[in-house]
Amino acid sequence: MLHARRLLNAVLRTPLFTALATPHDIDGYLRMLDRTWSARHVRARLVAIRRETDDAVSLWLLPNENWRGFRAGQFVQLSVWVGGIRHTRCYSISSAPEDGLPLRLTLEVQPIGRVSSAWLRQAREGDVVELSPALGDFVLPEPAPARLLFVSGGSGITPLLSMSRHLNATGYAGRLAWVHYARRAVILGDELRELARRQPGLQLDVRLTEPARSEGAPAPRLSGERLDALVPDWEGHEAFACGPASLLGSVASVWHERAAGGRLHVERFDAGADASPSRSTPWSTETPYRLVFARSGREARGHGRASLLAQAEAAGLQPRHGCRIGICHRCRCVKRAGVVRNELTGVLDDEPDKAIQLCITTPCSDVILEL
Ligand code: FES
Repeated sequence: MLHARRLLNAVLRTPLFTALATPHDIDGYLRMLDRTWSARHVRARLVAIRRETDDAVSLWLLPNENWRGFRAGQFVQLSVWVGGIRHTRCYSISSAPEDGLPLRLTLEVQPIGRVSSAWLRQAREGDVVELSPALGDFVLPEPAPARLLFVSGGSGITPLLSMSRHLNATGYAGRLAWVHYARRAVILGDELRELARRQPGLQLDVRLTEPARSEGAPAPRLSGERLDALVPDWEGHEAFACGPASLLGSVASVWHERAAGGRLHVERFDAGADASPSRSTPWSTETPYRLVFARSGREARGHGRASLLAQAEAAGLQPRHGCRIGICHRCRCVKRAGVVRNELTGVLDDEPDKAIQLCITTPCSDVILEL
């Protein structure tokens, strides 16, 4: 059936069928027969929804014949329609390739996130969503290194969970040390503990930050000493870190301080929306800035705590974008004037008439954008 659909799709993509379908898209006709059928795109049926914690939900998705699989650690762009507008967001796959289909995405529900809150409130089993092919190079090398170190925070656990499920399924015999930070509850915590129980080489160190804060103690933070205590020779491990900017800032400092020799792979989520409170910055993220969107003639009051993409959207604009994490470059836009910071590299830029990626850039002064 799958094979037959793929062959049929190849025929439907030919210029002849495209011309016959004009002025409509061939997919419009296919959708009438089966809502997941598309000649080109990956569509997926939502087959199960499960709340994991107060602020995280897992979705099980059964993609159509255009899905070509994924590697543990990759993400997909999920597109849904909310209020008549198509929204696309990136989510890591939390199941492993060896788990087969349906694949599982685990999302942190943002109280102010348009997609994750508005769409999830109305999502039902049987709904159909659009997916990109699996994307990203945050993946394990083949064969997997003998010594691995994972560092994750919040929903940054998801790609690493996919990797550890993959390691477990493929009989990994190396050593894996994993440090995870969560605010109150660990997303997919039961599964994580079960993996640690089944995989003898897995050393797990989970820290909750909220209880410490509420007791007036400093929140646990990643440090070289903490890593030393968990795994004394961590500097030589191949490391994978995924989480918000604050955690990745700490990872970068620790690796820099110790001049760690092992390879470090980093995947950041929620770019720009979670500027690091722990990083010492020469400006305040609270300072109000004037954001001028020159082409649309609009202005907004901005700040350094969120990406220019998020702030332009909050101001009612709809800038072109894709991944929202600095990979696809679809959000490139010319900055006419102002000082901005690239949140991935930490580099400040005050050059006029320069192309920037809105999704990973925060303002550090008044900014004029060609938007
Ligand atoms: S949206 Fe992909 S790089 Fe900005």
